[in-house]
Amino acid sequence: MRSASPSQASPQSPPSPTQASAQPDPAAGKLIFEGHCALCHGIDGGGGRGPSLRQPKLVQAANDEALKSVIENGIPPDMPEAWYLSQEEIASVAAYVRRLGNVVPEVLPGDPARGKAIYARNGCSACHILDGEGSGYGPELTDAGARRGSARLRETLQNPTKTIPEKFLFVEAATPSGQTIRGIRLNEDSFTIQLKDQQGRFYSFRKSELRDLKKLRGETPMPPYGSVLSPADLDDLIHFLASQRGKP
Ligand code: HEC
Ligand code: HEC
Repeated sequence: MRSASPSQASPQSPPSPTQASAQPDPAAGKLIFEGHCALCHGIDGGGGRGPSLRQPKLVQAANDEALKSVIENGIPPDMPEAWYLSQEEIASVAAYVRRLGNVVPEVLPGDPARGKAIYARNGCSACHILDGEGSGYGPELTDAGARRGSARLRETLQNPTKTIPEKFLFVEAATPSGQTIRGIRLNEDSFTIQLKDQQGRFYSFRKSELRDLKKLRGETPMPPYGSVLSPADLDDLIHFLASQRGKP
């Protein structure tokens, strides 16, 4: 019998004997999650660089097949594919992620109705849109509680520079006429950069024409509120934000 030439060799790997029978194991999934996913989704799945997974419905993973596919293939460009996981491991992490979504909502201290008033009093709407009101300099907060757990919300309010999202960049541009414009980068290529300032004005500059372009990495226009608000006010505000779960 002649042996098969390399080009005729079967591309299929032999079927794994355990694959068909193995049940997804959420406990094993938890360990994988903590090792590979927590970096972006938070140790408790409450969100970080990636969104909170502690939600009953995941927009991009409506059913188990979609969830496994998201884990296996990632979501370019922000979420990497999990090439290092076997199909069984993927099923186990998926089972664990589903469990995260079943958790009962956190029981939080504070009074959300008071939190709403604190939100209004502290000028948050100068930079955020909530339920259609305010200005969209920072991220919309209508679904803040669906995307972020309370620990993460607290950290942003106390120390916003610690929770700056991956792609966010605050910049300062000195124009040829000597004006200084600070804003959030919307877009950038080799030759141009587009900014939005706090008043909602858009700018597009040719980089070669700017006197100076400072990328204020690690800075954010969001002020820290840890010392402005009392601990009780912070609890109220966090409870209010955590109850913002988007429009049904
Ligand atoms: C480098 C950061 C990063 C890592 C590591 C990462 N993710 Fe993500 N993940 C993201 C980001 C960012 C998004 C949102 C992408 C988008 O919407 O464009 C996301 C989205 C998701 C979604 C869809 C959420 C929804 O609301 O539809 C699921 C599910 C998910 N990730 C699970 C996982 C699991 C499980 C792992 C570990 C195997 C993992 N992710 C690892 C960053 C990451
Ligand atoms: C001067 C503008 C400005 C003001 C005022 C401001 N923020 Fe922000 N906020 C931002 C920007 C810009 C970001 C995004 C960059 C970052 O995370 O630092 C942000 C981020 C956030 C986030 C995180 C959103 C996410 O998607 O994770 C929350 C929550 C938040 N702000 C709540 C508030 C609350 C509550 C107030 C009022 C007490 C407030 N902000 C006041 C500009 C502002």
